[in-house]
Amino acid sequence: MRISTSVGAAMASSIAMCRLRIRGRGSLLKCLQKVDTFLHRHIGTNLVAAKAESLQKEETDERDSRKSMYAVQEERQAQAERSVLISCHSRTNEKRFLKYLSKHGDINKYFFYEGYGMYAVVEFAQRESVASLLEEAVIPSVSHESTVPFKSRLLLLRNLGGSADSQSGHQLQPQTTVPINELIQRLSKEESIDRQVAALTEAYQLTEENSRLRFLVCSLLQDVAAAYFPECTIRPFGSSVNGFGKLGCDLDMFLDLDGISGRNKKLPKSGLSLEYQLKRANSERAVTQSILSVIGECVDQFGPGCVGVQKILNARCPLVRFAHQPSGFQCDLTANNRVAMKSTELLYLYGGLDPRVRCLVFTVRCWARAHAITSSIPGAWITNFSLTVMVLFFLQTRSCPIIPSLDHLRDLAGPADKCVIEGNDCTFVSDFSKIQLQSNTETLEQLLCEFFDFYATFAFNKMSINIRKSKAQNKPEVAPLYIQNPFETSLNVSKNVNATQLERFVALCQESSWLLQQRENLSPRGANGGNNTATPWGLAALLLPSRVAEIKGRKKRKREPASERIKSLLESLKNNNQPKKKS
Ligand code: GTP
Ligand code: MG
Repeated sequence: MRISTSVGAAMASSIAMCRLRIRGRGSLLKCLQKVDTFLHRHIGTNLVAAKAESLQKEETDERDSRKSMYAVQEERQAQAERSVLISCHSRTNEKRFLKYLSKHGDINKYFFYEGYGMYAVVEFAQRESVASLLEEAVIPSVSHESTVPFKSRLLLLRNLGGSADSQSGHQLQPQTTVPINELIQRLSKEESIDRQVAALTEAYQLTEENSRLRFLVCSLLQDVAAAYFPECTIRPFGSSVNGFGKLGCDLDMFLDLDGISGRNKKLPKSGLSLEYQLKRANSERAVTQSILSVIGECVDQFGPGCVGVQKILNARCPLVRFAHQPSGFQCDLTANNRVAMKSTELLYLYGGLDPRVRCLVFTVRCWARAHAITSSIPGAWITNFSLTVMVLFFLQTRSCPIIPSLDHLRDLAGPADKCVIEGNDCTFVSDFSKIQLQSNTETLEQLLCEFFDFYATFAFNKMSINIRKSKAQNKPEVAPLYIQNPFETSLNVSKNVNATQLERFVALCQESSWLLQQRENLSPRGANGGNNTATPWGLAALLLPSRVAEIKGRKKRKREPASERIKSLLESLKNNNQPKKKS
């Protein structure tokens, strides 16, 4: 039986949709692909379409049942408060260790990881178990006088006088990403660009354990800050919680004092009442600076495991920066940074609406990092936050948009979503189920190509990027790259970016778009000689060092004519092809 072209196309797009939606459910995908092929040949389209529909529904249900970021945070915070971080010897016997800790109560979850030595994160079922364990822990008597007797949930396991443990080879949970060369190899072995993008996301995203560790570090810090403000909360924000975090990304923390009782209480209309006498400062900024100054001092002097503390109080957003050695996290502690919390929540929402959002953001961030378009050092680079907004904007502006504008999300908001911070309207819906998406069926491969094309030709000289309106708008002021801050709408989030960096970005988009159009880059290219390495293709080829970037990176060098650039690209492609030809 022959299938008409339009039905065939519809079926192909349903299948493409299914493939995308059920990513990670490998066996179901394989099974569906087989059914797909069979039905293609022998029966018709109804069953596949029905399956596509049901998978689509599953996906929608999954999205709708997604918790708000705050609900997830509360759960994680509670877990963290029931947890301890223990430095232990690599030969620690796991069974004996758990038996010893279980004296204090049931253990919900534990895992080991390697940082500066081996550590265990142990989550008890009850908070009282942590109190009981701390009761038993001792302050070391050796060098007693030269240590600060600050008790925390960062502990050291000693094996005193007993027989040495012999067990090693614990299952260690990785806390860092694979090196780029290894990633390129992994991706080169995938069978499609869609799979490459998914594999990159899987390799880079934060693991369950890494997320737990991030919340635990916030909770440990909260114990330090509680010396001054017993009711404060320290919450993570930024990529640690917005769904776009990569293993190894920094830990942005927000010291929240709003929970301090009395702050939001209303005064009675009549009768006597008492209020706290408070010290006044010149401005809200001055209050933030003084709070961060004392907490920073406390972290520096007493915070176990916190090293290299810098108080950066005169920055636009004052912060305390330090390294938390046991977790390996680079930490930024801020206060009074509510707009950033809202941006985090917005990114979390966008990332949860459609799986392609996270995949594309991870891919673009990784690509940008591989070509030194972004950097962890502050400078004229495009930041990860700006890049993420650029991806969101691209997805909003597809002919069938994948995600809605921020204005639309604001229109869907309920009374509980209302939020105004320092006069800025930060209101948007938080309930996933209220958001209706359009049925865009583009594959990740298509989106990746289109992304590079889009920014290779974007009118950066005239237009600004605006995710609130989902529309490019005339630039309100001169800046090489203008990305409107979604909440503080008079600000440009990419104000730091200079013309050279933007030019490099555009040149790399042109190059990547061009590379993805080359036939040899569109499918696996097999093994490279006898050493069992795969020849980079597709996304993997885009992560290889770029000739253009190298050329553009040389500041003040005369601009190469386009024909020269294409010639050098052809040359590099020819070189890449050589091993294959030989084999
Ligand atoms: P990485 O740390 O690079 O993985 O990404 P990140 O998203 O955490 O970025 P970063 O640590 O630089 O910033 C933390 C959060 O602060 C971001 O997620 C945003 O919510 C917010 N943020 C960062 N830069 C800006 C900016 O220029 N404007 C605004 N409004 N918010 C920003
Ligand atoms: Mg960050």
